[in-house]
Amino acid sequence: MATTAIGGRVISLGSVDSTNNYAADLLAGGGVHHGTVILAREQTAGRGQRGRVWRSGDGLDLTASVILVPEHMRVSDQFGLSKLVAVAVHDVVAGSLIAAGRDPVGVRIKWPNDVLVDRHKIAGILIKNEVMGSLIRSSVVGIGLNVNSLEWEEGLLATSLRQETGREEAVDAVLERLCLRLEELWATFDPQAPSLSERYGSLLWSRGRFVALERDGEPWTARPMDVDADGRLLVEDTEGSVHAYGLERLRFGPR
Ligand code: BTN
Repeated sequence: MATTAIGGRVISLGSVDSTNNYAADLLAGGGVHHGTVILAREQTAGRGQRGRVWRSGDGLDLTASVILVPEHMRVSDQFGLSKLVAVAVHDVVAGSLIAAGRDPVGVRIKWPNDVLVDRHKIAGILIKNEVMGSLIRSSVVGIGLNVNSLEWEEGLLATSLRQETGREEAVDAVLERLCLRLEELWATFDPQAPSLSERYGSLLWSRGRFVALERDGEPWTARPMDVDADGRLLVEDTEGSVHAYGLERLRFGPR
């Protein structure tokens, strides 16, 4: 692979419960390098956000975990990493659309870090940080990106690169592009940099548009405007007041 650190070593597995679990075990055993990637053809217990299951087509889609060992990253900066990964995945998806002659404007980041094409989810990200004191000792960045699947569970608003572009792509080639983009962004990573925040903010799904949300479990309508440094979503209600909420209080309603 043509990357320097991220993706410099790829451990390719046939079947595993979860690449995130595998990566966490490797880290616990010690001696694993920053940038090591675990790639699986199939996950038997892929993990999604909020304890959900992540399913992907056997050998069709990308399920991978990237191990990062930051030299000095504060716990308070962890949303910066989440932004970086979401932007990298966005760029890979947008790159496929552009290569197929499609306008990438519909590729968006749904707070905090899903990637959608229009209303359809194409990728999910699950990051697990290991903390020591005020620093992040290591991160396992799990990424599920639908590459070639064309069939979805009933009721799931999902899509894949192939569904969007009409082209099959090799999972390895998509992983290579993803590692290159992660490496580029990581090389200049500053969690508080306005450039990363501005980019992330500009890519927010439903930015400036009133949408159905759930606040404290109750339906609510407001419009996402941006995120703050702690990763809370800034939303403007119908009266024009701006609020900041984290995931414990706010989530999107049905798309
Ligand atoms: C989400 O729910 O949107 C997050 C999905 C994350 C899925 C990826 S697939 C590779 C890695 N291993 C896992 O078990 N989960 C993540």
